[in-house]
Amino acid sequence: MTETSIHTRQGLPTEMQILLRDYPREAWPDHPDFAESIQNWMGAHQMFRRLGEIVHGSTQQVIERNMDPEAYAKRLGQYGNLLVQNLHGHHGWEDRAFFPELTRADARFSGGLDMLETDHEELDALLDRLTTAANRYLKLSDMSPKDAPAELPALLKETGAIGGFLERHLTDEEDLVVPILLHHKLRG
Ligand SMILES: [Fe+2]
Ligand SMILES: [Fe+2]
Repeated sequence: MTETSIHTRQGLPTEMQILLRDYPREAWPDHPDFAESIQNWMGAHQMFRRLGEIVHGSTQQVIERNMDPEAYAKRLGQYGNLLVQNLHGHHGWEDRAFFPELTRADARFSGGLDMLETDHEELDALLDRLTTAANRYLKLSDMSPKDAPAELPALLKETGAIGGFLERHLTDEEDLVVPILLHHKLRG
């Protein structure tokens, strides 16, 4: 059986790589149909990876006492919020508009797009847990700063989970979607 769960799969399942074999990642930048809008979409993914690293790295630093708690609280509020809001907007648009467009262009990949939509549902749950843990920490650092550090291990668990999840989801999504766009000249 095909392994589609984001928790266990090791990459884009083989039967979803039909076009990836003809359009390997290394060849995308030189392809004439690798349009600016595709590059912008991948740029958004890069920004999510980066925001995830900042939030996780800062949490590690404050635990190791390499960052001032006040500076950390500011970063967490700012970058954590950016990460959560932008991710919700991005994958909401993918579910609503982008994936249906791709399915209309090439029905062979509807199973792959369903897999990515299931990722999005899991991501929602992950982002909710991250938001809850971050808000709890921020509230305590405001109301009762001496109790706030006790919340950090729980928060670190969530910031760490986001990084691994995003790496798998975003990479597989690009491997499935970019070859469809190039093959059907959807943005070129
Ligand atoms: Fe995406
Ligand atoms: Fe996505």
